[in-house]
Amino acid sequence: MTLLRITAVAALITLVSACERPPIETTQNGYRGTAMVDVSNPRAPEAEQGYPAALPPASASGPKAGEVYQNVQVLGDLSVAEFTRLMTAMTAWVSPEAGCNYCHNPANLADDNVYTKVVSRRMIQMTQHVNDSWSDHVGDNGVNCYTCHRGKNVPEYIWFSQGMSAYGNQHFVGWRDGQNMPDVGVGYTSLPSDAYTDFLTATEGNQSIRLASAEAFAGPELGLSIKDAEYTFGLMTNWSQALGVNCTYCHNTRAFQNWEQSTPQRMTAHHGLNMVRDLNANYLVPLGPVYPENRLGEELGDAPKAYCATCHQGVAKPLGGADAVSAYPSLGAASR
Ligand code: HEC
Ligand code: HEC
Ligand code: HEC
Ligand code: HEC
Repeated sequence: MTLLRITAVAALITLVSACERPPIETTQNGYRGTAMVDVSNPRAPEAEQGYPAALPPASASGPKAGEVYQNVQVLGDLSVAEFTRLMTAMTAWVSPEAGCNYCHNPANLADDNVYTKVVSRRMIQMTQHVNDSWSDHVGDNGVNCYTCHRGKNVPEYIWFSQGMSAYGNQHFVGWRDGQNMPDVGVGYTSLPSDAYTDFLTATEGNQSIRLASAEAFAGPELGLSIKDAEYTFGLMTNWSQALGVNCTYCHNTRAFQNWEQSTPQRMTAHHGLNMVRDLNANYLVPLGPVYPENRLGEELGDAPKAYCATCHQGVAKPLGGADAVSAYPSLGAASR
């Protein structure tokens, strides 16, 4: 009897602790009956992503940074006051502990021999490019260094290509084609754990994410197999995790491929896909030779790259939808 009671109590504790305390928020994304509902816990820690307050505005008049300093290649049009304000903000966003010297030789601020300074110059251009050219994705809120870095030198969510360790037959299971290595990036499923390299590194010639067909047995005609579908599902699992949402945030699961039955967020995600490809191909991969070896991929020596989680970090609107750019117009389009 006592044993039964202990078992019952233990079962109750397990049951209760596995549930989340109400109230839980639900948002309907599609027609009734399609199960297109997004369920979220407003008290989850990821819902409380803070954003550091913008620094007080600086005067736009006075001499320009390009005239006063020796080696300003990107931000030359800013007033010295605005330039200094941006340097201060960048320090808080990227290197609050090491301070200015994380990027500078303190004896000569114009010196480009510190690799982090060279990387940062390109990061400034990348941030401007996102805000100027990808408003289809980032809207008016835009991004700044903090969106990805969150006060850390290296953003928490980056990825490297996987080499033979994911594919090789040195394990007794033989050729595993990138699967069965439960990885956080694909939700600890057995789906291929590098569902990124073939989809996200280049702007052209990527493996097709789309492989559904209205015809039976059309897969081989499209040149795609069930194995390819596993890569699509790996990538989709990664996206859902990055945004902290279910598949139904973007799809009606009765017809994953159908755009008419999808939510508007799917189109935003499609622009995000092309943006990530652009950032990796044109900014992050070419920085490879600038980094020291310890920053490169352990197996293939490739440069660190971005994906959805680099900015989103578990929420559908990075930083809870904070305006990241209007206080720093030098990081975005002049029209903002
Ligand atoms: C995350 C990297 C980073 C941090 C931190 C940083 N800077 Fe810079 N700094 C740069 C980059 C990149 C440039 C060059 C900008 C360009 O080419 O347009 C630069 C240029 C400068 C220059 C111009 C030097 C010259 O003569 O060419 C000054 C002055 C400067 N920074 C001051 C500071 C101060 C002061 C701090 C700390 C409050 C600081 N920076 C923190 C990256 C950084
Ligand atoms: C889209 C996301 C994103 C944005 C926005 C971004 N970065 Fe980065 N940053 C990265 C990634 C990815 C890396 C590579 C990580 C690594 O170095 O291992 C990186 C690396 C760096 C590094 C090198 C760190 C090191 O120790 O190797 C510096 C410095 C840096 N970024 C500065 C900046 C500055 C300054 C800004 C804003 C002007 C900025 N970043 C904006 C994604 C971003
Ligand atoms: C944030 C939005 C978003 C989420 C969440 C999402 N998807 Fe997708 N999905 C897309 C987009 C966008 C495409 C098309 C990619 C492209 O443009 O090529 C796509 C494509 C697909 C396809 C291929 C459709 C075809 O045309 O063959 C499948 C299958 C799929 N998703 C399944 C899933 C599953 C399963 C989940 C949940 C684990 C999921 N998706 C979560 C946005 C999303
Ligand atoms: C450079 C940073 C960055 C990257 C990388 C990024 N996003 Fe976004 N995303 C944003 C910003 C900023 C918004 C605008 C949020 C807002 O309106 O406040 C956004 C909005 C969205 C939205 C709309 C959310 C809503 O509810 O309206 C979706 C869906 C989305 N992103 C999906 C993706 C997917 C999928 C990827 C990867 C393929 C991706 N994002 C990569 C920054 C990024």
